Amino acid sequence: MVRSGTKPATADTWWLPRGVVALRGRIFEKVNGDRTVTLPDAAHGPDVFERVYAHPAANGRSAGAGLSDLFWYWLSPGPEVHQEHLEPGERYEDVAAATRRMLAGSSAELAAAAGRAVARVLDTVPDTRISLVRLRDLVMPAWAEFCYEMVFREPCPPRARELITAHADDVINALKCTGLRHPGRRARLTAYLRERVAAGDVPHELPASLSPQEQVHYLQGTMFNTAVVQLSEATAHVLLALARHPEVQQRVWAHPDDDRYLTHVLDETMRLYPLFGIAHRITTDAIPLDEHTTLPAGSVVCFSYPGYHATGYDRPDAFDPDRWDTLSAKDAHFIPFGVAANRPCPAWRLSPLVLRAAVREVLRRFRLDSTASHTRSNPHRAPCLLIPRGLSPQPRRTEALRRFVRVRDGVEDVTRSVRQLVLGTVMVLHARRQRLAERYFEESPAGRCPVAHQGGNRG
Ligand code: HEM
Repeated sequence: MVRSGTKPATADTWWLPRGVVALRGRIFEKVNGDRTVTLPDAAHGPDVFERVYAHPAANGRSAGAGLSDLFWYWLSPGPEVHQEHLEPGERYEDVAAATRRMLAGSSAELAAAAGRAVARVLDTVPDTRISLVRLRDLVMPAWAEFCYEMVFREPCPPRARELITAHADDVINALKCTGLRHPGRRARLTAYLRERVAAGDVPHELPASLSPQEQVHYLQGTMFNTAVVQLSEATAHVLLALARHPEVQQRVWAHPDDDRYLTHVLDETMRLYPLFGIAHRITTDAIPLDEHTTLPAGSVVCFSYPGYHATGYDRPDAFDPDRWDTLSAKDAHFIPFGVAANRPCPAWRLSPLVLRAAVREVLRRFRLDSTASHTRSNPHRAPCLLIPRGLSPQPRRTEALRRFVRVRDGVEDVTRSVRQLVLGTVMVLHARRQRLAERYFEESPAGRCPVAHQGGNRG
């Protein structure tokens, strides 16, 4: 899983001293090793990207890549049963089917549940004054509740909401290198889920090929980390984009039933700020790259979403939802949920519809305003002013707050970049010592992975 922030920001962080960026780059190259290729690149455009991503041999997930030790470290406990990191095979199919069962539901019910969860967190925001929030922090408890309801099919108790939020927040902060891991926080959720699974409280069929402890880890990693984090990040991105583009926000608010326009806003947000910076695969057989080059088995291929999403568009860097009036998401270079032929996101149907419900609920109550920067990796968690709809604040007061947000954002950017570098280095070194993925595949019976021990990519 390489998602927002998992590849520490490079292009986003134009303000970083060059030396710091270079040092960070070298650390991660070292982890990736030399059998790594990133697509698209100068010699291989979007067509090669699409062909290689959809190639049947681009199917290894964890075994054979130095990078896996790092992701497993970030995702612990239970990275070996996280759906994203399982090698293809029966276990993977079993787990993927369980996820599909949990995410199933009627569109209307899912949207209503999302709207209710978001409404509950917004009830805690004062409606008589302007509030300064970080959008990701604001919405994460709502998505924790929503995911709890999908899994347990009952209202979410406050304690469970706290445990899920603390866990998801800890994982995403570590992934973005804005904080270290706190295994204790994660263990509290594991203990809670262990009790609930043992008591038979999960009304869905859990993957039968997993032990009870693995089932707990599967739920924790997929349903209470990935699902919560991705929905929170996506909501933060779309709300921040609206806060920075008042004319777009006004149009969405004034036409709450215009699904088409809101879908264009979401598409444009996910095109410009895809949640995955890079998705990687480890090749299990040779794949031709061009007439002269073949990728050998055991290569790590990094698929750059921002790179691909920037090809084939007029003014690719501009946020312009109206471009989708004439473009079809199907025909454009646009894969916010991955590629159909190679393990796409199981929530590709659910996510847009619950995100639309969330955006509508927020805009119904508040006008959004932000002078903070907007980058794909969103390390500042999207600072934003929430201005209650019934309030007419003094322009001078609003302007002072806007200035404060801008200045604080600039200062935080600099201090955070240094912190990310230090914490990232500490975690890379710690992960390399732990060698979680490498040891797992070394100790595993033959057949646990398709490319293990083929001399894959060691940094
Ligand atoms: C807007 C929200 C979301 C976006 C943009 C998103 C994006 C993606 C993308 C691009 C991939 C494919 C990466 C690759 O090729 O390796 C993916 C995979 C995945 N996503 Fe999502 N995701 C979102 C929400 C969710 C949610 C709510 C869940 C809930 C469980 C989820 C679970 C997963 C899983 C388990 C995979 C791995 C699929 C597999 O390997 O079988 N995602 N997601």
